[in-house]
Amino acid sequence: MRLGSDARVAMVGGGQLARMTYEATIPLGIRMTVLDADPLAPAVRAGAQAVQGDPAYLASLVDLARMGGVVTFDHERVPIEHLRALEEAGVSVAPGSHVAELAFDKAASRRRLRAAGFPVPEAVAGATASDVVAFAQGAGWPVVVKAAKGGYDGRAVEVVANEDEASDAAARLGPNLVIESFVNFDAELAVMVARSSTGEIACYDPVSTIQRDGICIEVLAPAAVPARIRSQAMDLARSLATTFELIGVMAVELFLVGDDLIINELATRPHNSAHHTIEAAETSQFEQHLRAVLGWPLGSTELRVRAAVTCNIIGAQDGSDPLGRLRQALAIRGAHVHLYAKTARPGRKLGHVTACGSTLGEARTIARQAAAILSASEPTASCADSREVPT
Ligand SMILES: Nc1ncnc2c1ncn2[C@@H]1O[C@H](COP(=O)(O)OP(=O)(O)OP(=O)(O)O)[C@@H](O)[C@H]1O
Ligand SMILES: [Mg+2]
Repeated sequence: MRLGSDARVAMVGGGQLARMTYEATIPLGIRMTVLDADPLAPAVRAGAQAVQGDPAYLASLVDLARMGGVVTFDHERVPIEHLRALEEAGVSVAPGSHVAELAFDKAASRRRLRAAGFPVPEAVAGATASDVVAFAQGAGWPVVVKAAKGGYDGRAVEVVANEDEASDAAARLGPNLVIESFVNFDAELAVMVARSSTGEIACYDPVSTIQRDGICIEVLAPAAVPARIRSQAMDLARSLATTFELIGVMAVELFLVGDDLIINELATRPHNSAHHTIEAAETSQFEQHLRAVLGWPLGSTELRVRAAVTCNIIGAQDGSDPLGRLRQALAIRGAHVHLYAKTARPGRKLGHVTACGSTLGEARTIARQAAAILSASEPTASCADSREVPT
């Protein structure tokens, strides 16, 4: 008896993105295996089939590929040369190594995007404090120093204002660094775009993202920016997807400076800035990613609501588990709670809450209240700054 389609996906990493992708496989009958060193990784706890192994090793990636299906990603901590080796061995990898490098290696990304004519901050690759100082002498302090590989949630990003701080940052993050000018942005936006292996492209409306200490705490959909900025951001995302022959979904993180958009970072996978699409869009980013890597028709990216806000649940300082406060959060009408089944640690992203509404303000109030309960913190700000949905 046939129990589903023969479609298979093999995801590198079993974190929260894999967990939510796994949820999206169920109604479509897709079989999914994840690769993770942790036998209790979030996707494994949710029931996904697992191969235990470290994605830094080619042998583990080969074990995953043997399970069958398109190899795709929940994170970027994979050596790009291993992806090339898989491709040479005939494994279907989506996105391919050529486009994945734009997300996996910030130094290569800055260089290649600039060469292709896309707007990026002025940046150089470097290794030492003297490289940072030399760059700052031209660009001016402060500068931003990042580990070229492996960073997430702002953990390997530092704003550096002088020579002493340059030494500290280089010691902490080196030797594979990106050194770039500090962008005094007005806002941060993100656009999620999908391109299928057939070449079909679908783009979601841009969102505003708000970070605290380098970690995304809030996402507002749609972004509260003028329509011309929204279409400019979507054109940029489509152009990136076409130029680099993306397969899968890709988040384009942008700085808005006046009327200009500058690319901060690309993530060639589902992304924190599009979790609202689960409740608020016709097609969730996770289903869209599956459709794209399998060469299936892409789904509609339309929002089903006027506004949606996602607030991340960040581990409380006392290390307590948000599960202990779940009942209280669920008492808030309209709060859609997603917990990732990760071990609670202070400052760690443990889940998110999405709320929909007829205005951003309405959605934001609900999402903030529930996330604050689960994070055991004060709501991020008063709700007086809530903005109306832009027209
Ligand atoms: N050149 C810059 N100028 C000003 N702020 C910056 C710059 N680069 C990064 N930032 C700030 O730091 C945040 C984190 O940077 P970045 O996105 O590069 O790090 P990351 O750890 O890879 O993030 P993610 O969690 O999205 O993977 C950005 O969202 C932005 O707020
Ligand atoms: Mg980022």
